[in-house]
Amino acid sequence: MLFNETEIDLNGKKVLLRNARLDEAEMLIDYLKRVSGETRFLLCEPDEIKFTIEEEKDFIKKHNDSPDNLLVLAFVDGEYAGNCSFEGLRSRKRSKHRADIGIALFQEYTGFGLGRLMLNFLLDKIKEQGYEQAELTVVGGNDRAYHLYESVGFIECGRIPNANKYTDGTYSDDIMMVLRF
Ligand SMILES: CC(C)(COP(=O)(O)OP(=O)(O)OC[C@H]1O[C@@H](n2cnc3c(N)ncnc32)[C@H](O)[C@@H]1OP(=O)(O)O)[C@@H](O)C(=O)NCCC(=O)NCCS
Repeated sequence: MLFNETEIDLNGKKVLLRNARLDEAEMLIDYLKRVSGETRFLLCEPDEIKFTIEEEKDFIKKHNDSPDNLLVLAFVDGEYAGNCSFEGLRSRKRSKHRADIGIALFQEYTGFGLGRLMLNFLLDKIKEQGYEQAELTVVGGNDRAYHLYESVGFIECGRIPNANKYTDGTYSDDIMMVLRF
């Protein structure tokens, strides 16, 4: 889904939210590798990110062209800071009222309200598209993310114990959360 570029002042920093361009595919792959290495709260290890530029371009195109998907890039004072996205579960009649969301920022841009700003932006777009609920999975121990989601109305609705096993032998749970509009 395409949207108008939005500029917001956040605690003295200039935040720009906009769609991704096809020529940013490489930047987005590099971002995925870096954020995956900065935290244990994302899906996989950095060396498991194997997308090609063409695959990433298809991902950008899909998110820009379809009303059922949205990818929002955030820039802080001109620097790429991270993104958030939603994918509507519209391929089946019984799930077409649901949207799945994801968000990840570079560590240096966390903790000053950007995540909240982006999440609220995303939720507004999801509501505008007529979805009835937003859903996400957060890793147990990701207290900042859990707090943020709870504070905008998400509730915990399930947990898979030891869903993630790390290279050091430790585990974390997957926590499912849902927000009914
Ligand atoms: C999770 C993430 C998107 C949140 O964005 P952010 O910009 O850091 O978050 P914000 O600054 O907008 O808000 C964080 C909130 O958590 C609170 N918080 C910070 N650390 C916390 C902690 N350890 N425990 C509980 N709450 C905490 C903050 O006080 C703030 O709440 P408040 O607005 O009520 O004061 C971001 O940190 C991130 O991308 N992290 C790495 C990747 C990741 O974990 N993605 C989420 C996958 S589900």
